[in-house]
Amino acid sequence: MILEKINSLRAEIEAAQASTPEDVEQLRIKYLSKKGAMNALMADFRTVPGDMKREVGQKINELKEFATARINSLRNAYASSATQVEEEIDLTRTATPAGLGTRHPLSIVRNEMLRIFADMGFTIAEGPEVEDDWHVFESLNFPPDHPARDMQDTFFISRDPKDILLRTHTSSVQTRVMESVKPPIRIVCPGRVYRNEAISARAHCFFHQVEGLYIDKNVSFADLKQVLLGFARRMFGPETRIRLRPSYFPFTEPSAEMDISCDICGGKGCAFCKGTGWVEILGCGMVDPNVLEACGIDSKVYTGYAFGMGIERITNLKYKVKDLRMFSENDVRFLRQFESAK
Ligand code: PHE
Repeated sequence: MILEKINSLRAEIEAAQASTPEDVEQLRIKYLSKKGAMNALMADFRTVPGDMKREVGQKINELKEFATARINSLRNAYASSATQVEEEIDLTRTATPAGLGTRHPLSIVRNEMLRIFADMGFTIAEGPEVEDDWHVFESLNFPPDHPARDMQDTFFISRDPKDILLRTHTSSVQTRVMESVKPPIRIVCPGRVYRNEAISARAHCFFHQVEGLYIDKNVSFADLKQVLLGFARRMFGPETRIRLRPSYFPFTEPSAEMDISCDICGGKGCAFCKGTGWVEILGCGMVDPNVLEACGIDSKVYTGYAFGMGIERITNLKYKVKDLRMFSENDVRFLRQFESAK
């Protein structure tokens, strides 16, 4: 019964003619609309015995495809160009399918850095980018006239007094943790920081840091050195050597800057390391007792170390990126090159 119906409908549709767009629309309504013949067939389909459902279902689908194709071809033949445009172009569709993106090189390297420190027992701490003077400078033992507080370095949000600003380092997060958590503290603080510098291949007005802090009883400089050596070897390869040069930071005493052996020339000296065989990667030191006290930690009981580095710098070294500006230009020809990196 239903098979006959399908056959006769097919013949009917095959013979259908239209001379105006309205005729085509009538045909569409007759066969394909909610109340049309195709939907009526679906109602009959429910009564088809189970063992025939497959065959009949397939026939119905074929007929539906046939009817749709036939009506579309009639429409194309007769419809005016205006109706065609209206019917065929879906202005809400994306022009080209958007491809799947890749992770930004700075994110790849940040994740790798955090992984390494997580394996050494550090947890991640984050804080605000808009900070107050206390957390960025004062608690960290910056003298009132320190040049970092100057207009040349810091972007101030408030004018008078100049005490709300964009953080210049993520050490502010360390202060926040020290104020609120009792030692032992073992954290790494990733995040964006801002400095008022002229933009060039080597400097930008914002960049990214990972800083670390460990405070406990009996923490020594040897602990710091070992953790940094472990980090350097996992990040840059097991042959990597480190050296520490005395330096100055207001919040650490003693302070040092750390170099790693140049992995381009293996330490022999090349253009990349300017013939020295070493490249600088971070600042570090033992947390100054004044900082511990400012954050409510007894400096007679506890000691600690801190270190801080720029993610851009580590990424430049790892991937030999020459111009810092490329990280924020969003040029997919640059970004795509990191597709296969983990
Ligand atoms: N906060 C320093 C900077 O941004 C880095 C640093 C962190 C140095 C911790 C020593 C100890 O330059």
